[in-house]
Amino acid sequence: MKGLRDIASFGKVEAEDDAVLQYFVEMNITKNIDESDTFLVLGRKGSGKTAIFRYFTEDKHKDCSSALNLNGYPWRIHEKIKDDGVEPVESYVASWKYFIAIEMVKLVLKLSDRYQMTEVIELNKFLNDNYGTSSPSIKSIFTPQKLVVSGDLEPQILGCKIGKISLSKKENDMALGSELNALTEKLLESVKKIAAVSKITKMFVHFDELDRGITTLEEARKDMIIGLVLASKEVRKILKGSDSFFKSAVYLRKDIWDELKFSDKNKITESNADLIEWSHEQLFGLIEKRIEVLLGKGAEWSDIDDGKRINSQPKWKHIIDRTLMRPRDVISFLNTLLEVTLKKDGDNLKFENKDVVAARPKYSNYLKHELDDEILPHWEDWEVCLQALSRIGKLYFKKEDYAEAYKNIETKEDKTYSDYQSLEELYSFSVIEYEVRSGYGGSGWKSKFANPELGWDINAIRFKVHLGLKEYMKLKEERT
Ligand SMILES: Nc1ncnc2c1ncn2[C@@H]1O[C@H](COP(=O)(O)OP(=O)(O)OP(=O)(O)O)[C@@H](O)[C@H]1O
Ligand SMILES: [Mg+2]
Repeated sequence: MKGLRDIASFGKVEAEDDAVLQYFVEMNITKNIDESDTFLVLGRKGSGKTAIFRYFTEDKHKDCSSALNLNGYPWRIHEKIKDDGVEPVESYVASWKYFIAIEMVKLVLKLSDRYQMTEVIELNKFLNDNYGTSSPSIKSIFTPQKLVVSGDLEPQILGCKIGKISLSKKENDMALGSELNALTEKLLESVKKIAAVSKITKMFVHFDELDRGITTLEEARKDMIIGLVLASKEVRKILKGSDSFFKSAVYLRKDIWDELKFSDKNKITESNADLIEWSHEQLFGLIEKRIEVLLGKGAEWSDIDDGKRINSQPKWKHIIDRTLMRPRDVISFLNTLLEVTLKKDGDNLKFENKDVVAARPKYSNYLKHELDDEILPHWEDWEVCLQALSRIGKLYFKKEDYAEAYKNIETKEDKTYSDYQSLEELYSFSVIEYEVRSGYGGSGWKSKFANPELGWDINAIRFKVHLGLKEYMKLKEERT
């Protein structure tokens, strides 16, 4: 068995760069995506969306799925493929349905061995005629000026055959949506037939990184994200009633989902969405799994920890308490802890309490920046709240002290929120927790991530800053 000296890290903090499939932790969500109605995977930053995406596209469904990474996707080009015949929130449903259909077409052509089948020949022709290849990249799906359709694929609207669909935008083009929808249905019908004849049991397309590059969440981008979710739902409906299982799965940040407004949202949240959530035990399981893979079979936490408790807690619990219950935070803390520990002399190194304490400032700095990435697109001046909390200088604070500090901070422009609203926002990003008193004289702290079912309490008067930010904000632990 190896020791701490033999490893460089506990993995990379982004699933893209991490050897995550070597130590992947399965969860209920993976089963729901694979077998039931879940097609929307929601999670905070660093909760493990890309990990699940990679698990499906490189492992479990490797052969029957497409991995669609929208990092670098030409959103501006897609933005023009708009259906003006429907409400703005639905104006991208038709174009995304067509997009998904093209991906399903590419996939079924790859999987099927029925080269002589009419549908196979026609789909190949369609792709070659329009894209010059039978596997166009996602970036080129909307680049043709027009789509040429012939043979049985040619769609009909009101009894008229349409051999050409123009993608270059004209003024008040009300026809684009219905024309694209008619074509999409034709394409998917062929996909269904080919899958049935070729005995293809499962086909998946997975979409990740819809949020990459967002600095402010513009309306058009919101409509496009809504469009993709609704399109995924509709494509399922079109493809139903066959022996094959088809799914378009979307991985999306929870904070972005929370900002979207459209009429089917509740229904989708209830029936088709799954939120990635981790418990202390599951996160500890994730740590143990990495230890075993990195240090050798049978290796466990007790082999790298000196066994002493910190504030009467096991060290791993102390660490997890400083995270927002997300794997990225845990891995980041462990990597910093390892870095600190490796500076000590000797061979049989163990994590000691002083190492944990020494790792906290750097970890705290990481957590602040991760929160910036998450919060800034929604709330440009959230830093003002941090300044107010830093002025109070304590981990525990009272509502009136906060109001006073917040009021006294000068800003160039008006603050986005009132002092009280800003507390609620801080709570919703789990930056603070509030105190709940029980009828029996006891009290406890409630946080958004540990108690997601619990809403904000407008009557709360005492709050606590999340432990992970203590060092970054230089807060003292004394109670007010
Ligand atoms: N189920 C899992 N098993 C093992 N490791 C995981 C699992 N889920 C996440 N991780 C690890 O946690 C880290 C963060 O996960 P990931 O990059 O997937 O988050 P994300 O939700 O995609 O974040 P972002 O919103 O920033 O893209 C990565 O190092 C990843 O390998
Ligand atoms: Mg990701």
